[in-house]
Amino acid sequence: SLEYSLRPKQLREYIGQQKVKENLTVFIEAAKMRGETLDHVLLYGPPGLGKTTLAAIIANEMGVQLRTTAGPAIERPGDLAAILTALEPGDVLFIDEIHRLPRAVEEVLYPAMEDFCLDIVIGKGPAARSVRLDLPPFTLVGATTRSGALSAPLRDRFGVLSRLEYYTPEELAHIVKRTAHIFAVEIEDEAAWEVARRSRGTPRIANRLLRRVRDFAQVRGDGTITFTLANEALEQLQVDRLGLDHLDHKLLKSMMEKFRGGPVGLETIAATIGEEAQTIEDVYEPYLLQIGFLQRTPRGRVVTPLAYNHFGLEVPR
Ligand code: ADE
Repeated sequence: SLEYSLRPKQLREYIGQQKVKENLTVFIEAAKMRGETLDHVLLYGPPGLGKTTLAAIIANEMGVQLRTTAGPAIERPGDLAAILTALEPGDVLFIDEIHRLPRAVEEVLYPAMEDFCLDIVIGKGPAARSVRLDLPPFTLVGATTRSGALSAPLRDRFGVLSRLEYYTPEELAHIVKRTAHIFAVEIEDEAAWEVARRSRGTPRIANRLLRRVRDFAQVRGDGTITFTLANEALEQLQVDRLGLDHLDHKLLKSMMEKFRGGPVGLETIAATIGEEAQTIEDVYEPYLLQIGFLQRTPRGRVVTPLAYNHFGLEVPR
């Protein structure tokens, strides 16, 4: 499908994340030369930067199947055992949100990662005994927004640790043009650049904004995405010059107006704006920290003078 083809299938089609790409290219090549499975890979970084895409690329480049699941979906050790025993030799098992695996499941994962075996307990009470089951060799690709939330024993079992970074506007403009090409829609360079600048360093957001801008170009224009149309559409979507949306504004403004810019605790901010603390921490904060609008201090979050300037407000003394 078209949706699917938006995701690049090979590392050389993948735009950005240069270091991650260079390293993975070597590790994949080496594993293939030795006829071995690739070491387990942990991908971490903010959401929307291409962790799932990379997992699919790794499987494709290794010439194996991709099996996809997520931490919260694996509730009991038996669920994981069912997944692991169904793998074929060399398969890539992708576990998204791996920091949300239950502890009991994590413990089954350790010997599976280290020795490709499963320790299962058969029976109950005094008759219970432990049986060791061999598994096909596989590559675990784990993804998390917070490597700090991973237990040390789990993190230590990954041979490759790759941190994804926010994309530059140049890289995002390149992605926007690639996507527009797949959509078979004309886009002016300046329009691609404008979408890129307002996408918070995140391809998922860039592609979403491009879809909406395309809608405006189709209905209000002749289909070509011009700079003027892109700008109008983005204003209409309430995405500001830096890509900050309604919720970023609400978060920053409530900190400035109700707490004189902080320090404020995360839970307090969450309660004030009616959002989950976890969503703020994983989705909103990382970019605001990155552009220097927010700082973390031991006493809570603080809005910086840069953010006050962006809103045309005076910095409190
Ligand atoms: N689409 C989304 N992310 C991409 C990337 N990093 N490279 C190419 N196309 C993409």
